[in-house]
Amino acid sequence: MRRVIAIDGPSGAGKSTIARAIAQDMGFDYLDTGALYRAIGLHLVRRGLDEKAADGTVEAALDSARVEFREGKVFLNGADVSGEIRTPEAGHYASVFSAREPVRRFLLGIQRDAARKADLVAEGRDMTTVVFPDAFVKIYLDASVEERARRRTLELAAKGFPVDEGRIRQEIRERDERDSTRAIAPLRRADDALYIDSSGCGREEVLGKVLGIIRRV
Ligand code: DC
Repeated sequence: MRRVIAIDGPSGAGKSTIARAIAQDMGFDYLDTGALYRAIGLHLVRRGLDEKAADGTVEAALDSARVEFREGKVFLNGADVSGEIRTPEAGHYASVFSAREPVRRFLLGIQRDAARKADLVAEGRDMTTVVFPDAFVKIYLDASVEERARRRTLELAAKGFPVDEGRIRQEIRERDERDSTRAIAPLRRADDALYIDSSGCGREEVLGKVLGIIRRV
C-alpha cells in the first residue's frame, strides 16, 4: 500500500475540488470514489435494476461491470460516461445502490488496488473509516446544508440543468440521511479524522488548512 490522504464528507462539501488540488500539489493520484459509485449506479439502472432489486440480482449484474479511470475520465465497459454520471439522477442512483453490500464489496477491491499502484488522495464517504483506515492523513470536510445547496445550484445552473435551490436543499438532506444511516459503511466522522467546516470559506482558505495539516504530519 502506498501513501494515502483520505477525505470524507457529505455531498457538496467541496471534497473533489480540494482533493484534486492536493493531489496536484503533492504529486499524488486523485481517486474520486463517488465517480465509481455513480458509474456502477448507471450500470445497474441500464440493466433495468431499481432499489427493489434483490442482492443476488445486483451481484449478478456486477459481473458485467468494468469501471476505469483514464486521463481524468470515467469509463464504464469501455465507454466514456464522465458526463452522464454527473446528472442529479445518476447521483440519486449512486446513493441508492451504494447502500447495497454487493456494490460496496465490488468497489472495495478496486479502491484498494488503486492505492497499490500510486500514492493517492482518495475522497468519498468511507475513505477514513473503511477503505483506508490507516491513511496517513484523514480529513472530514463538512459544510452547512444551506451552503452546499447554494454551491450545487450554481454548479448545476452552469451546466445548464434546470435548478430550484429549495428542491436541491431537500435532495441534499435526503442524500445525507441515506448516506449516513445505511447499515454498511455509513458516512461518519472517524475519531482520528481532522474536522474542517468549509462553510463561508473560499477554496484557497480550505486548501491552505488541509496542506498545513499534511505538512505537520
Ligand atoms: O461524492 P458523490 O456525490 O459523487 O457520491 C455519489 C454517491 O455515492 C453518494 O451519495 C454516496 C455514494 N458514495 C459512497 O457510498 N461511498 C463513497 N466512498 C463515495 C460515494
